Amino acid sequence: MAIRLLAALALLALQPAAHSAEPGTIELPRALFATGDDPARARPDFDDHNWTELSTLANYEKQGFPDYDGYSWYRFHVRIPSSLKTTVRWPQRLHLYLSSIDDVDQTFLNGVKVGEMGQFPEDPRGYATRWNGLRNYYVDVATGLVHWDEDNVIAVRVYDGSGGGGFYRDMPTLSLAEITDGLSMDLAQTPIAYGPTMFRARVHWLNSFPVALDGRMDYEIYDAAVDRVLRRGHAPFHVGANGHADLPIEAPQRAGVEVRFQFTEAGTGAAANATLHAPYLLTPPESLSPRINGARVFGVRPGSPVYFRIAATGSAPLQFSAAGLPAGLRLDHRSGVISGQARQPGDYRVALTVGNARGAAHATLTIRVGNQLALTPPMGWNSWNAYGLAVDAGKVRAVAEAMISSGLAAHGWTYINIDDGWEAAERTADGTIRSNAKFPDLQALSDYLHERGLRFGIYSSPGARTCGRFLGSLGHERQDADSYAAWGVDYLKYDLCSYELLLPKEPNVADYQAPYRLMGEALAAQPRDIVYSLCQYGLAAVWKWGGDVRGNSWRTTGDIEDSWRVVREIMDSQAVTAPFADPGHWNDPDMLVVGEVGWGGALHPSRLTPDEQYSHISLWSLLAAPLLLGNELTHLDAFTRNLLVNDEVIAIDQDPLGHAARRAWTGDDWEIWVRELADGRRAVGVFNFGDRFRRLTLAGRVPELAVGMTLRDVWRQHDLAPLTAGSEAAVPSHGVLLLAVGQARP
Ligand code: GAL
Repeated sequence: MAIRLLAALALLALQPAAHSAEPGTIELPRALFATGDDPARARPDFDDHNWTELSTLANYEKQGFPDYDGYSWYRFHVRIPSSLKTTVRWPQRLHLYLSSIDDVDQTFLNGVKVGEMGQFPEDPRGYATRWNGLRNYYVDVATGLVHWDEDNVIAVRVYDGSGGGGFYRDMPTLSLAEITDGLSMDLAQTPIAYGPTMFRARVHWLNSFPVALDGRMDYEIYDAAVDRVLRRGHAPFHVGANGHADLPIEAPQRAGVEVRFQFTEAGTGAAANATLHAPYLLTPPESLSPRINGARVFGVRPGSPVYFRIAATGSAPLQFSAAGLPAGLRLDHRSGVISGQARQPGDYRVALTVGNARGAAHATLTIRVGNQLALTPPMGWNSWNAYGLAVDAGKVRAVAEAMISSGLAAHGWTYINIDDGWEAAERTADGTIRSNAKFPDLQALSDYLHERGLRFGIYSSPGARTCGRFLGSLGHERQDADSYAAWGVDYLKYDLCSYELLLPKEPNVADYQAPYRLMGEALAAQPRDIVYSLCQYGLAAVWKWGGDVRGNSWRTTGDIEDSWRVVREIMDSQAVTAPFADPGHWNDPDMLVVGEVGWGGALHPSRLTPDEQYSHISLWSLLAAPLLLGNELTHLDAFTRNLLVNDEVIAIDQDPLGHAARRAWTGDDWEIWVRELADGRRAVGVFNFGDRFRRLTLAGRVPELAVGMTLRDVWRQHDLAPLTAGSEAAVPSHGVLLLAVGQARP
């Protein structure tokens, strides 16, 4: 009996806590829900007794409202006990954490608006999704809005443009904030200077509460590689109401260094912690001598216009020459842009030379005039992660300019792709698609890009509407492909979006293929090459058939975010897709989330730590993934630039063999991925997904890591001692050691 009772008690304890987790936190796991829109729903006395109860941990589409796009409301009834006030030292701000809401919300407490994120379609500035934004709303208790020890109604007006819909990420909560909770480290405003061994930063602190903070900032510089605090310090710290303050800091510039801050407020004793994962540069400085970078093989169909920019670095001016170009192609000796039309099929081995005052570099470029495009994964930029639907022609031009002036184009980054948001509200009378006022002249934009040897990408959906509610191509596939070709488009991202509504209840593979095949054929019929990028989030194992519908790449996942959780989930899901990549057919685990991103909201530096970013770029390169930046390129900070100009890392991504890495070994939060390279070597990524800086002996973990093998550290671009039984990888938490293993065949 006693045992039984105990078992029952244990079971009870395992049930998810209904309404309280940590003391002082009220969880909001469920809400009442109804589709449609009505301002009266914000009111506390609104009658919601016949609404549906939903979990807030999964979107409403998964809970009985499949395919519902548009307006809806959530309502929470919650008793807020006055005892909450005893859990903090400064009981003046109610903190509503609403996790993420797909796509836009306005939130009311007892009938009064307390927060909003994104822009509803009726917004004069136009619709803007903030599906992945974290909602932290604060309510001043002094307003009397909080009804202590009574029923309170939190009403959330939601608009969903497509897919998902509503609350979805993690547990929404309600609590009282501490006075220090408004304080945050703002890396966007933290200039960092890199010396040979140290970095210096003026750490910028923001106080978002209208109350001044006085107290003391303690900090310690911690070296995770040796598990030791290198230095401790403290300083008096003052930041005004809604103000900011800077704190200079200097620390070693190397893997494993963290600067840990703790601010203690004098009046309340409340404390806030923040860690600066110290950025460190791995890519060695560019040589002034000439070097030829980027893809070594390029596919073009006979007669299609060619724009190929030879990626090369070295002190200006560079002088380019090419021997063995197919008839019909010419090279601009100053810009390095190859253009023209080649009519005769065949493999042309073109001898490239790039010279400057310091010497000359040579490389062979194979131009394959035939049927295959995208023989190496496309590299460039896409507007979505930076600008969302707020993209316009001026921004795209500025990015294109930055692509060249920042030097990225000289490392192979060439596509400039407009994502959703360029389409006009209506087609012309004959059904022709047009651009909206933000893109007054697509043809001119395309010419501008091509003159610079860049390539032009565009976006559409097989549905009637794109995910951002713009016009899709349904019923106009051939007409749209004709328009793209006429504008000089080189790349199309074709995003399932509202076509999902047209799929049968239980779609089979043929149902998923049909819309993509249709556009694939329309593109293939054009007199120019348009790389075809499928975007349907990996449904029906698209990697198995994307090539059959003429796709050159296919998204294998849902949308990426600049959070380690999402990047890690994507990484984990890629092992099954890897065997299906080959030249012209690439798995696309989505665009890169490095640099400043924002999806049309305020831009912020990627929330990935430097090590997480090294892992991100390394794995995408091992996977032979398209490398499409999604950041605001006109603000390229030194760390991000350094991350993107490592020619040895890029060469792994662009390796002409086109085999993607396989996950060859896993153990205790370690993973080793191995990719065969065309020169006979192997690229090996040793990832530490654990929470601490750790070491792993390498020998024998995978057959490629045999004792005696030659090793090169790819990020640092230097040779290591040959592998011994004792060789170890020392890898920071969430970081990587990227190796090239073996001898290159001459
Ligand atoms: C999503 C897609 C994103 C972006 C967006 C535009 O479905 O995955 O990459 O293109 O639509 O609305």
